[in-house]
Amino acid sequence: MDKILIHGGHPLSGSIKVSGSKNSSLPILAATLLTREPCVVYGVPDLSDTHYMLQILMHLGAQVERASGTVSVTAEKIQSVAPYDVVRRMRASVCVLGPLLGRCKEATVSLPGGCVIGDRPIDLHLQGFEALGAAVRVESGDIKVFAPKLTGAVINMHGKFGPTVLGTDNVMMAAVLADGVTVIEGAAQEPEVVDLATFLNKMGAKIEGAGTRRIIIEGVPALHGAEHRVIPDRIEAGTFLVAGAIAGKEVTVKRVNPEHVRAVTDALTRCGLAINVKDDAISILPNGHASALDLTTEPYPGFPTDMQAQMCALLSTSKGTSSVTENVFPQRYMHVAELKRMGAQVELEGATAVIDGVDCLLGAPVMASDLRASAALVLAGLKADGITEVSRVYHIDRGYEHLDEKLSELGAHIERVKAA
Ligand code: EPU
Repeated sequence: MDKILIHGGHPLSGSIKVSGSKNSSLPILAATLLTREPCVVYGVPDLSDTHYMLQILMHLGAQVERASGTVSVTAEKIQSVAPYDVVRRMRASVCVLGPLLGRCKEATVSLPGGCVIGDRPIDLHLQGFEALGAAVRVESGDIKVFAPKLTGAVINMHGKFGPTVLGTDNVMMAAVLADGVTVIEGAAQEPEVVDLATFLNKMGAKIEGAGTRRIIIEGVPALHGAEHRVIPDRIEAGTFLVAGAIAGKEVTVKRVNPEHVRAVTDALTRCGLAINVKDDAISILPNGHASALDLTTEPYPGFPTDMQAQMCALLSTSKGTSSVTENVFPQRYMHVAELKRMGAQVELEGATAVIDGVDCLLGAPVMASDLRASAALVLAGLKADGITEVSRVYHIDRGYEHLDEKLSELGAHIERVKAA
């Protein structure tokens, strides 16, 4: 397994271009199953998660071509069964259920395995399918959905921890081909949901209200092919801004939608860091004195759970005592034990991490446990004294396109040690 070595203490400066969004690409690629006609998606990042999604589409019968960030999918004839072997590597494979149900009126998709960021139920997705008229069974680890006919309905996607993003996507993708009007109440408002709705509308769907709490979908008989460029990855952008906050002189992220990153730039400003926004570029000008912060993760437009680990890395060396409360995935704290190995002072109290900032962290061998936790460890290593060795970097490759190369362009001393 590859490792990443970071020699801490080398300041970052310069700019990077943000890649296309992972969390937009995955459901948008799944949505290509809704039509027999060719679709072209631009800006798909080169990640193992997008690669897994394309493997699932091919397994289902789609023709897939990929040239750099451009992916062409033609799902002329498809079948509707995705077994465990095909879906086990990625939770997001669940988002083929909606398009398969919409187009084939049936689907069997194996439940993906456990996840270190906590329990990840899909009850709301399944309730949504049932409301549209589908029969749902979970049998021997497979989810089976079947509906001779889908009929529009009023569906609520707000659960105990807020609205579900992929649940909203899944129901939207099934409902575009239902008879009549579907109203999704308590819908997720994430920019990735809006991006999916934009793509579906280009395919001929009739969706209004994406980006608000209520999405209205008027079913149509069929969708056609479409072309679409996915939005920039707001979590990658945020991660590089925090890298700049931790170890930067001046770091600029380009090709970003500043509105999508607002919660992160607001948090960094509250830490006392200067942020400049110009068109689609955001610069961070650290002054070496980030201060403590009380932070709570929330569904969009609140502070994203996908940036929580990276902020914990920053707050570990910020002046004063910070508190971080995780409201979306309350158990998403796998990075804490590893940050503590580097000298961070963090105590967990339920879903809250109380962080006493220290003057400096010390490089150590640490283990990546999930995508964002791994990013946090790399960021911590940028400033730590000595060498930080992050193992299991396949987690990083799931969701950051060339993270080590981009950090290296900014001046980090970072190397990837390939597995023998
Ligand atoms: N939930 C339920 N029932 C459901 C679905 C979700 O109770 O049926 C709960 C979850 O357990 C969680 C909360 O609702 O407590 C929100 O989960 P959500 O369904 O919104 O998560 P997701 O759609 O599975 C996407 C992203 C995650 C991101 C979350 C929250 C993709 C592919 N994944 O997951 O991204 O953390 O939304 O914003 O879009 C990542 O990129 O590192 C990542 C984990």
